[in-house]
Amino acid sequence: MNLSCLELKHFRNYNNLIINFSPGMNIFFGQNAQGKTNLLEAVSLLCLGRSFRTRKDSELIQWGSEAAFVRGTFVDNGLEDVIEIGIGEGQKKFKQNGHEVKGTALFSQVPVVSFAPDDLQLIKGGPQLRRDFLDLYLAQLDPAYRVTYYKFYKILQQRNRFLKEVRLVNRELEVWNEQFIDAGLKVICSRIQLIEKIKPYIKAAHEQISLNREALNLDYLSFGSHIIREPDDKKLRELFQNELARVSREEFERKLTLVGPQRDDLRITIGDQIDIRNYGSQGQQRTAALALKLGMIDILKDVREMPPLLLLDDVMSEFDNDRKQALLSLLLSSSQTFLTSTGRSDFPIEASVNTVFYQVIKGAVIHES
Ligand SMILES: Nc1ncnc2c1ncn2[C@@H]1O[C@H](COP(=O)(O)OP(=O)(O)O)[C@@H](O)[C@H]1O
Ligand SMILES: [Mg+2]
Repeated sequence: MNLSCLELKHFRNYNNLIINFSPGMNIFFGQNAQGKTNLLEAVSLLCLGRSFRTRKDSELIQWGSEAAFVRGTFVDNGLEDVIEIGIGEGQKKFKQNGHEVKGTALFSQVPVVSFAPDDLQLIKGGPQLRRDFLDLYLAQLDPAYRVTYYKFYKILQQRNRFLKEVRLVNRELEVWNEQFIDAGLKVICSRIQLIEKIKPYIKAAHEQISLNREALNLDYLSFGSHIIREPDDKKLRELFQNELARVSREEFERKLTLVGPQRDDLRITIGDQIDIRNYGSQGQQRTAALALKLGMIDILKDVREMPPLLLLDDVMSEFDNDRKQALLSLLLSSSQTFLTSTGRSDFPIEASVNTVFYQVIKGAVIHES
């Protein structure tokens, strides 16, 4: 499945744009703040139903306008699939081939993997980023996970609201606990299963790009720092109950749920179980971050039986020439790709049927021939 045409109206700094894409590589270059990332953001919106860089949809609407409109025409074996998204203040509507659909319906259509310079934060940053990473790819691998997570999230919000409203320790919390544990365990078990499934893909990707051929390993950390590898419902339920009992008093004091998948983490180690977040060199961390993403491309290809669209935002300048060539040849041989860069010279390749260059200047896109 390829994105063949994109139309934007009042989206970010694009007033009115229609642009056709190559099924191969689409390269956007131009100075800073011209609208390169905004274009990739529009593509992510069409694939995921949400932006890859903000949760606030209203930011997407062009300043001074009331609504933004995005239309994408996807092509698969000659068949067209038109996705339309309208974003107004506080609301977002989706259409597929003219019929209104839910955002979740889009999510499972076209997988997408994006790369950005701050991917390094996946390794160095806080647990929230790693949870978001897991959740995003889990939902792309298994659309049912979105529903599982959403159910859990609703209960978490209600439980937190309850903790905020009551003044004293209150037995009624136990009523919430049962539902909370049920929903939370589903999230935890899905995440563990995903990690076990993606491990070999990420290991293989890491072996290919790491200079020392170090082994990369992933583990799910739950309830503080228990490493959990098996989705054993009974054991986990007991652990969950014990942990909730342990922090109960503190939860009432802090008026916040302190245990559950909303606080879990992904531990990334290399070689002999060295925690790469604290002890890895910058180079090792960069390589691991890239391996996480490359591994996701491979597993999405296998599971979804469709190569994901790739979005690479400003990452070319970070690579030395050898790695750049290796990455470009990988991209040329795989899926439809959208890349941005400030310099045309970051791409030591020629334009061709499959490689198209565009210059981006102040919300206008000029096709280079
Ligand atoms: N909602 C918006 N309305 C109008 N312009 C916006 C909006 N959001 C961002 N911009 C503008 O978009 C430009 C940044 O676009 P971006 O795609 O991030 O640039 P770059 O080419 O550096 O990737 C800036 O000029 C910014 O002011
Ligand atoms: Mg940018």
